[in-house]
Amino acid sequence: MRPLQIAEGIYDVGVKDWNIRDFHGYSTYNGTTYNSFLIIDEKVVLIDTVKKGFGDELLKNISKIIDPKKIDIVVSNHAEMDHSGCLPQIMHVVGEDKPVYCSKMGEKNLKAHFPKKLNYHVVDNSFTLPIGKRTLHFMETRMLHWPDSMFTYIPEDKILFSSDAFGQHFAGHEDFDDEVGASILDHAKKYYANILLLYAPKVKTLIESVAAMNLDIKTICPDHGIIWRKDPGLIISKYIEWSDQKPEKKAVVIYDTMWHSTEKMAEAITSGLNYAGVYAIPMNARKWHRSDIMTEIMDAGLVVMGSPTLNNGLFPTLSDVLTYVKGLKPLNKKGAAFGSYGWSGEAVKLINAEFASMGIPLAHEGLKMQYVPDESQIETCFEFGKQLAGTL
Ligand code: FEO
Repeated sequence: MRPLQIAEGIYDVGVKDWNIRDFHGYSTYNGTTYNSFLIIDEKVVLIDTVKKGFGDELLKNISKIIDPKKIDIVVSNHAEMDHSGCLPQIMHVVGEDKPVYCSKMGEKNLKAHFPKKLNYHVVDNSFTLPIGKRTLHFMETRMLHWPDSMFTYIPEDKILFSSDAFGQHFAGHEDFDDEVGASILDHAKKYYANILLLYAPKVKTLIESVAAMNLDIKTICPDHGIIWRKDPGLIISKYIEWSDQKPEKKAVVIYDTMWHSTEKMAEAITSGLNYAGVYAIPMNARKWHRSDIMTEIMDAGLVVMGSPTLNNGLFPTLSDVLTYVKGLKPLNKKGAAFGSYGWSGEAVKLINAEFASMGIPLAHEGLKMQYVPDESQIETCFEFGKQLAGTL
C-alpha cells in the first residue's frame, strides 16, 4: 500500500513491480519494489526516485500527500537506473532548478545517464543539511555497491535510508520485517549473494565504520523490499556474517547433462557427500537459475561442478554459471570437477582451469568417465563424494 507511513511525516511513496522476473540476470520470483521516500518538514524532501516507466505512479503516490511541485530537495543516494530512471520526469514536475543532492561520483554518474542539466549539489560525509525539525546526514558508501552509493541518515527519527544495502527483491503485501517474518532473510541473502558479494570485504569495512559512528538506528529503509523496523540489528549482523563468507559444511553440486551420464555421476557424488555428513545439493544448471545457484554457493565450502564434454568444450549452461560466479568472486571455497565424455574429455580440465582463475583451490584433480557410468563407476562417484567430504 503506497503511500506507506514510516514515521510522522515520513512516507514510502515508491512502487511495487509485482511482475518483474528478471532483474538484469537475477531471477526475481517475487518481483521487487523501488522504494522512494518523502519527508514532510519545513523543506519537503524526496529520497531517490524509481525505475523508468513507474514515474506516473510515483507522482500519484506523492500527490496523495503533497503537491509534487512543493518538493524542495531531491536526494539521489544511488545513480543506478532502478532508482534514478524517473529523475528527469520527476524534476520536470518538481522544478529543474531545485537542488539534487548526491555524492561526487553520483553527480558524475547522473550526468553520464541524463544529459539534461540539473542543479546537482555534491555532498560528502561531513555534510549535513537542515530541513526544519530534522537534519539530513550523508554517508558515502562507495562500492556498496556502485562508486556513487551513499546513505542518508536522519538522527531525529533514527532512520537510515540505505539505498541498495539491506534490500531484498521482494514485492508482497507486507511492508515491514515484523509483517513478513523470518522468511525475508532468504530474499536478503539472495540479494547479498548476487548484488554485493563481489564487494564483501568492503561491505564489512563500511558497515563496521558506520557502526563505529554509533548511530542510533531505529529503522532501516532500503530502496528494495521491506523496511526493517522491528529488528534492524538483525540485517546488519547478517551482513557482517555474509561478508565473512565463513564456509559451512555444505557442498553445491552444479551440473548439466546430455544423456544423463553426468547427471548419474552428480547424484552419486551428492549421495557420497551426504553419506559423509555434508549437506549437499545437486543443482542442474538448466533447471536452476544462476542467481539461485549463486545463493547456495555463498556459504558452501565446496563447489563441485560437472559438465559433459561438448564439442571439445564445456556445456554452455556451465559456462554461463562459471562466468556469473567468477564475477562475484566468492571466497573460502574448494572446488572439484567431474563429467562424462565420449572421446576427447576436456570438460574436467576446463573446469579446473576456471577454478584456478577464480583462486579456488582444488579439493581433487577431478573425475571423468567415458560414456555411461556402470554400477562400479557409480560406486566410484559415491566414493569420490565421500572423499570430497573429507576435505571440508
Ligand atoms: Fe537497486 Fe544498484 O540499484
